[in-house]
Amino acid sequence: MYNSYTRSYNEQKKLTTSTGKVVDNDQNSLTTEKPAVTSLNDMNLLEKLSHFNRERIPERVVHAKGGGAYGKFTVTNDLTKYTCADFLSQVGKETEVFVRFSTVGGEKGSADTARDPRGFAVKLYTNDGNYDIVGNDTPVFFIRDAIKFPDFIHTQKRNPVTNLPDPDAFWDFFSLTPESMNQVTRLMSDYGTPDGFRHMDGFGTHTFMWYNNSRERYWIKYHFKTEQGIKNFTNDEAVELAGINPNYSVQDLYDSIKQGKYPAWTLFVQILTTEQAMNYKFNVFDVTKIIYEEDYPLIPVGRLVLNRLPKNFFNEVEQAAFCPGTIVPGVNLSPDKMLNARAISYTDAQRHRIGPNANQLSVNKPRCPVNNYQRDGDMSMLEQGAPNYYPNSFRGPEPNILVTPPSYEVEGMLARHPMKVEPIDFEQPRKLYNEFSAQEKEHLIYNISVSLKNALSNIQYRQTALFYITDVDYGTRVANKLGLNLDVVKTLATMSEEERNAKTMKK
Ligand code: HEM
Repeated sequence: MYNSYTRSYNEQKKLTTSTGKVVDNDQNSLTTEKPAVTSLNDMNLLEKLSHFNRERIPERVVHAKGGGAYGKFTVTNDLTKYTCADFLSQVGKETEVFVRFSTVGGEKGSADTARDPRGFAVKLYTNDGNYDIVGNDTPVFFIRDAIKFPDFIHTQKRNPVTNLPDPDAFWDFFSLTPESMNQVTRLMSDYGTPDGFRHMDGFGTHTFMWYNNSRERYWIKYHFKTEQGIKNFTNDEAVELAGINPNYSVQDLYDSIKQGKYPAWTLFVQILTTEQAMNYKFNVFDVTKIIYEEDYPLIPVGRLVLNRLPKNFFNEVEQAAFCPGTIVPGVNLSPDKMLNARAISYTDAQRHRIGPNANQLSVNKPRCPVNNYQRDGDMSMLEQGAPNYYPNSFRGPEPNILVTPPSYEVEGMLARHPMKVEPIDFEQPRKLYNEFSAQEKEHLIYNISVSLKNALSNIQYRQTALFYITDVDYGTRVANKLGLNLDVVKTLATMSEEERNAKTMKK
């Protein structure tokens, strides 16, 4: 109830319950005098305690720890002959963005400098709806079939018995998954411990489709190049910093934007025609491989600048929902089976983590009109009413056949086709290893040794055999650093995958 006493306060600042009632006292519960027995009629106390009990939502099952900011994307190059995407339709065109960076394996409170890929998720609020590019700071990934993803993530998280990180599981999975070698070599180099989020590149990682107004298809890869320059920590610096400031990257992003030092990235694409994609030396839809820049050079697209901090971390960063399947006309997914599965997995996770109406929250809400027949569910804030069905006679929203993306051919049997590990799978990690400077190689071997030495001996041998297959010098140096018998490593390296795995199973 208002009275002259409460009215004397600044009306803007009055403390209220969530239903707007002015709170008379926020320091003392409503009780009897002696002894003090709490009354159930203290609605302020009840609301505070019960709301508090519901403050947490499940953290992201992966990429739980991160930071984010808003900014803009500006087109710098006319690529309309490759895509009719509205946000790329004119040089100088600006689109609002929200970007979230993250580590992958750790929990929400984990250290930012952990050895891990970094998430690099970009939401473009285009006139044609949101477009999410949900990538990492690495151009490749560990696996190429989504059916392996839950197993892979289990090995990077805590052991279900000890609740501790498990070096056996970590290396067991990699050593039994040789297609991971390209990404493992990056992860174990100093690229695995970037100096904050500002000093790293971002990649769409998969190959995506672009199509133009004539419905001609192209296959493209995204590269966001940092304008701050690449900077990485050594293993020892990263470990030390994890203790001194576990929030190093989140703080670095926040502080730099607060100080007006707006981080920026230049976006490039590699573009292939369908014929070039089909005739490339390997499967361009295999996410464990890069497309060589000497074959398909980087073409500039635009510039991404982050210049605005969220007002409320929980609302805007924690509840942000990205999905690789969130695309706009002019862009499409591709015949990459892992991308296809990712496209359904993220919104499923978000219906559990945030709720079915996550896209009504300010950070996720498209800036263009949203019209459909979906209604209700937890926390709906929809203003639309009837009709809630289609077709109808009331001039409700209609689909537009003109936005249908071009189709592409598929052939063959529906079956569980394996993507077998072939010698070509070792070509790129070999090239990468040999591109490293002497110091980078030394750090790589050291970083591997401090981690792999904690795994069981048979796993150390199996993994080192993979390093040896990748490159003799690489494998030899890891073996020597770990004190392994090089002859045994060599013998394992000459075996077939099945023989090597059988030989190194636990007795
Ligand atoms: C089959 C493989 C994969 C599956 C099933 C998968 C699944 C998921 C799921 C369920 C989430 C949490 C979503 C949420 O709660 O909002 C997530 C987050 C994320 N994933 Fe993946 N993922 C896969 C591979 C990848 C790859 C290859 C990349 C990068 C190239 C990637 C980048 C990310 C990023 C950046 C986030 C965090 C997005 C954010 O900041 O909210 N994931 N992933």
